[in-house]
Amino acid sequence: MTRRELLAGVSAWASSVVLLGGQHGIRQRHPPQTPEELAGPADITLRIGEVNLELAPGRSVKTLAYNGQVPGPLLRVRRGRPLTLDVWNDTREEDIVHWHGLHIPADVDGVYEEGTPGVPPNGGRRRYVFTPEPAGTRWYHSHNSAGRNLKKSTYTGQFGMVVVEDGADPGAYDQEVPILLHEWDPFFRRNGPLDVEFKYFSINGRMLGAGEPIRVRQSERVLFRIVNASATLEHQLALPGHVFRVIALDGNPVPQPVAVHVVDVAPGERVDAIVEMNRPGVWVLGGLKTPQREAGLGIVVEYADTSGPPRWAPPLPFVWDYTAFGPALATRPEPDGRLTMAFRAKDDGHHWMLNGKSWPDTDPILVERGKRYRWVLDNQSADPHPVHLHRHTFELVSIAGRPTSGVWKDVVVVPPWKQAEIDIVADQPGLALFHCHQQFHMDNGFMAMMQYAGVP
Ligand code: C2O
Ligand code: CU
Repeated sequence: MTRRELLAGVSAWASSVVLLGGQHGIRQRHPPQTPEELAGPADITLRIGEVNLELAPGRSVKTLAYNGQVPGPLLRVRRGRPLTLDVWNDTREEDIVHWHGLHIPADVDGVYEEGTPGVPPNGGRRRYVFTPEPAGTRWYHSHNSAGRNLKKSTYTGQFGMVVVEDGADPGAYDQEVPILLHEWDPFFRRNGPLDVEFKYFSINGRMLGAGEPIRVRQSERVLFRIVNASATLEHQLALPGHVFRVIALDGNPVPQPVAVHVVDVAPGERVDAIVEMNRPGVWVLGGLKTPQREAGLGIVVEYADTSGPPRWAPPLPFVWDYTAFGPALATRPEPDGRLTMAFRAKDDGHHWMLNGKSWPDTDPILVERGKRYRWVLDNQSADPHPVHLHRHTFELVSIAGRPTSGVWKDVVVVPPWKQAEIDIVADQPGLALFHCHQQFHMDNGFMAMMQYAGVP
């Protein structure tokens, strides 16, 4: 079956899922790239391979990473300028790299289910060519499914930051510091519903105290670009005595840059925040949960000419609220279409359903090019779900009944037993995967495909 036949129309789509369904849903065969496609040097080369990552002295984990480092290289790219990326795969299994938060075509987005070819194993290469859009903090990560194999996909060190620059950055800061959160040595918790737990935590690939501190000077403004590259966990971070002025969510500037004591980031999310360094000392920028911080979730912030052990102090109680970052609108134009999606757990406690069905049997989400849709995301479960839509950015309309506007994201956490409303403009034709970014939820049915009418 060719790709064209496979994707011709809704009914063929639906039946092909049944035909080829399975752990990965659709998996197509792609011809190798031609010498013409592979001619010339790449702008960026990533190599997937095994590394021994030293999280702290004497504490190492074996994992997969890009270019032998965790996080992978920080990619600084120019918005609107075509980019050629080569990905080599030195592992024994096919892999795929997803460029999270970019508006790029489905065949390079890095998702098998959308039709992107993977990177062949055993030294194989795949070249991706695309034009990065829009500007902001994006990231890249493996989009393999892991299932019960906790040594794959987002459980590994295969993640890195992409900063898409457009030359319009007002530069209201003196120093820029990437912060990437991750966990290590996952295992299944057996009492209660099946869930994943972790032994160690890291910021920028090192446990708290093991890496280089972030060195700052008094009254410096530091831009933290925070990415939660966790497979399954939402995190809250604080820096004692300091406030974060949140300027962007998921890389997109917010209308109201509010100052907060605590930053909340769910898997897949990004927060850009500026901290004015006005409290000299040696501090822990770390996770709020003490056992996680003690297991590595933190990094030392050290002012010039100060010394001593890093200090931590729990912040005042704080509620993270997306709607604080954008004004409520008195009225909002009616969308062209509406859709309600209910999330619910199956009786086994670890499979997930969207409107009563699990991937690959979930109903396709049909849209027409150029129209605006309002999705009501109805969480009928006790878990928060960080849901993500590929290749698009959506506007938050309301969270748990509280309205907002101008807050553009590609991941939104729908709180337990609550609803979130989002508006999506269908302006990126092609398949677009919608899923929970919690890897174990995604691998257990929490996915659906958005599809444009009349577009393969
Ligand atoms: Cu960041 Cu489908 O993922
Ligand atoms: Cu989920």
